[in-house]
Amino acid sequence: MGVRGEGVRREFLVVSSTATTTGGFSLKDLPGSAGRMDIVCRCVNSAFFLSHDIRRDTRLWLLLLGEPNPPILIRFEGSELRYLSPDERSAASLISKALGRQNITEHEILSTPGVYIRKGDMKDVLEGCGDGTDIIYLVETGEWIREIEMGDKLIFVLGDHMGLGEEYERLLADACARNVSVGQKSLHVDHCMIVVHNELDIRRTLSKAKLSPVPRNSVSQDLKVEI
Ligand SMILES: C[S@@+](CC[C@H](N)C(=O)[O-])C[C@H]1O[C@@H](n2cnc3c(N)ncnc32)[C@H](O)[C@@H]1O
Repeated sequence: MGVRGEGVRREFLVVSSTATTTGGFSLKDLPGSAGRMDIVCRCVNSAFFLSHDIRRDTRLWLLLLGEPNPPILIRFEGSELRYLSPDERSAASLISKALGRQNITEHEILSTPGVYIRKGDMKDVLEGCGDGTDIIYLVETGEWIREIEMGDKLIFVLGDHMGLGEEYERLLADACARNVSVGQKSLHVDHCMIVVHNELDIRRTLSKAKLSPVPRNSVSQDLKVEI
């Protein structure tokens, strides 16, 4: 594994309860034959793509729990990524290549530039987070993201269309994760990632301009109810 954390400001961990853990799946039928791999691929897109650039300061972990070989961790490293284009099939092709590697063990291996694979679970990702990393579980019932302080090192954990499940929620609680919401409506997981990126982009711009941070208390109760 490369040096964890250098230059990385934003990490996401997406848990897919159904995405397949074997390579060679059909790129033409991502939702069906590959166990909602389409959702996973949209998360890759949301994590990294700007209009004409890639977010180099971002890392994405995919925790794949589908058959036949769960749990598998795939790490996408923004600073190293190549051969990724914005369409779902491009992400699917990199994931399929990684899953097709022989002898996937607990030892992480490089599959293609910026894409690493290993056997592993959520606890391995959380244990590898450096000291002072804020672990944030994105969930509809959490504190509103606009109202919380966040550090410089962040990992956001998200579930798929089925949610995260009690076992992983307990693990996150034990790791002192904070429950944070991007609003009261339940969004698609990849859309949540865009909202988070946007929130962090705005905060960074305001802080560079030395303007007061997020206008937390200026937001009226009425507006909060609408969100
Ligand atoms: C489609 S949602 C899951 C909905 C699922 N039916 C459930 O009951 O958990 C997929 C993931 O997106 C994240 N998510 C969706 N809406 C959110 C919100 N308003 N705030 C924070 N996270 C949200 C959560 O991590 C959730 O597990």
